[in-house]
Amino acid sequence: MERGVVRWAVNSGSWSPSELEFSAFVDLLPASERPEVLRYFKFEDRKKALISRLLQRKLMNSLFNIDYNDIIIKRTTEGKPYLANSTDGFDFPNFNFNVSHHGNFVVLASEPLCIVGVDVMTHETFRKEEPETFFRPFQSCFTKTEWDMVWSAGPAPELLYDQFYRLWCLKEAYIKAVGIGLGFDLLRAEFYYPTGDIWSDVAQVRIDSQEDTNWVFSLHKLDDHWVCVAKGPPGDAVESFRKTLKSVDLYSASLRLALEAPRKQFDILEVWDLVPQNHEDLKSL
Ligand SMILES: CC(C)(COP(=O)(O)OP(=O)(O)OC[C@H]1O[C@@H](n2cnc3c(N)ncnc32)[C@H](O)[C@@H]1OP(=O)(O)O)[C@@H](O)C(=O)NCCC(=O)NCCS
Repeated sequence: MERGVVRWAVNSGSWSPSELEFSAFVDLLPASERPEVLRYFKFEDRKKALISRLLQRKLMNSLFNIDYNDIIIKRTTEGKPYLANSTDGFDFPNFNFNVSHHGNFVVLASEPLCIVGVDVMTHETFRKEEPETFFRPFQSCFTKTEWDMVWSAGPAPELLYDQFYRLWCLKEAYIKAVGIGLGFDLLRAEFYYPTGDIWSDVAQVRIDSQEDTNWVFSLHKLDDHWVCVAKGPPGDAVESFRKTLKSVDLYSASLRLALEAPRKQFDILEVWDLVPQNHEDLKSL
């Protein structure tokens, strides 16, 4: 495995901590980050916000051996988190990562060279609605070709939703890789499956109608969730995110290799895997 290429997922739905246990986990974060977890009203959302932050710390600790308390994660103007500690001495010129949480999962992807975005979605909660009704407000999110792919997945509503959320994840993962927040014209990025199979685990993009082969998209299924990982050239990052990278003009053979590396499966971690070694006492709670 190439160092710095990580795909992790945690099933937050299968973790049912007591109040005491949950607050002990929150205490693993620096005091300044705890309100970001506790601001959520629903306990399920608090759990996901906490796991997301612990996953990021586990990543920095595993790759760079930085203590949890010394890890500094900042955000770009548009909100994309990045590691602010020095990574000098590591051969990861453009180390970057991204997280996503929805349904039962929190997922994380990181890359040392390409920029990366990840998105997870489940349609579990919407299944009772008629797809036609549910899709209507999202008409302007997809191009005609993309809607044709959605409708070709039917007639079973389950399959229509499945394809809708695959395309949704693809768009979100692209937006998140580039670091755009709100305000991107979603029709500029049109996704397609190069093999013609709408259930393929690989997809590509046309930007402003032009095929862009510098971008690679992989789709993964975790239970009934779709996850998409987008990898692309660092030069495509928005300005505030680009400033956090060291080799932006990297269109080298090593970048091509990184883009075309075989798709990496997600490792499923337990919440307990996110506890730093010097806090093993948490297990006695
Ligand atoms: C952040 C954004 C890009 C995605 O948010 P989301 O899908 O609701 O949430 P996800 O769980 O996938 O991702 C949230 C995480 O993305 C990260 N994030 C936030 N802003 C980001 C940005 N500009 N770029 C990349 N990642 C970002 C954060 O880590 C955040 O988690 P945290 O707040 O717990 O730290 C949001 O700005 C957005 O949805 N933009 C609109 C895109 C759109 O119109 N989509 C419609 C259909 S495709």
